[in-house]
Amino acid sequence: MRLNRKDLLGIEELSKEEIELILSTAASFKEVSEREIKKVPTLRGKTIINLFYEASTRTRTSFEIAAKRMSADAVNISVAASSAKKGETLKDTAKNLEAMNPDCIVVRHSSAGAPHMLARYLKSSVINAGDGAHEHPSQALLDMFTVKERLGRLEGLRIVIAGDIAHSRVARSNMHGFKKMGAEVTLCGPPTMMPKGIESICGVKSDMKDAIKDADVIMMLRIQLERQKEALFPSVREYSRVYGLDNEKLNGSKKDVIILHPGPVNRGVEISPEVADGPWSLILEQVKNGVAVRMALFYLLLGGVKE
Ligand code: CP
Repeated sequence: MRLNRKDLLGIEELSKEEIELILSTAASFKEVSEREIKKVPTLRGKTIINLFYEASTRTRTSFEIAAKRMSADAVNISVAASSAKKGETLKDTAKNLEAMNPDCIVVRHSSAGAPHMLARYLKSSVINAGDGAHEHPSQALLDMFTVKERLGRLEGLRIVIAGDIAHSRVARSNMHGFKKMGAEVTLCGPPTMMPKGIESICGVKSDMKDAIKDADVIMMLRIQLERQKEALFPSVREYSRVYGLDNEKLNGSKKDVIILHPGPVNRGVEISPEVADGPWSLILEQVKNGVAVRMALFYLLLGGVKE
């Protein structure tokens, strides 16, 4: 089975059936990471390049591990030490990398649409690992995978995404994904951090306790100071008091609610340490599942032969 597309650029363009295929394929790959020898020969002979123009811990490492567990050759380009620093454009960089005949380029860039531009110019597959405030599709897929694995379904669930919605590519991809899968998505955050007109797509609340009281899933987001052009809240302390998720706010929610966070976590700002490390938190489970989801993406885009 393959995805009938060359690239993975966003969740918005995926159908419900494609998301289901990715999630079920990821489920079949998850046990590879539990084996003593964590490797299958599925993508032997394939070459994958990680081209990250923005910092990353989880996504870059997860794509690299996923490629290696499938026996592909993974190459990481450190942009800080590349010719991008000498003024080479993204397109030229990508064309030069493609001249070495990779099968897939995984790209993260601060500009929305950068992976889409590359996908038009390159013959190799392009996977969007985060483009500006636009989309982060593999993150949303691993989030949906984690919720489905824990709760057994996505349809009919109440998902609350809270924090800096306007600057969050994770929020945008998850909004599209969970809605396509039949979940109800409510956004919560300061009005200054809500995209204009978003009420026509999702429920919007500005009171945290009211937003989370019936939630099955609460996804907390980091405040993305690096993307904010002006101060959008009075102080970090004030933000944390009103929107930070702590045990006191969580007391008013369902007893079996689950907590997600894409990372990196700002402990004590959007989430307290006791909630981040508490029994409802699936933050590290998300990271674990990211490898299986990215293995599934490589498999479905590059067409390996499964064991
Ligand atoms: N979730 C996520 O994208 O984390 P990194 O920035 O560490 O890749």
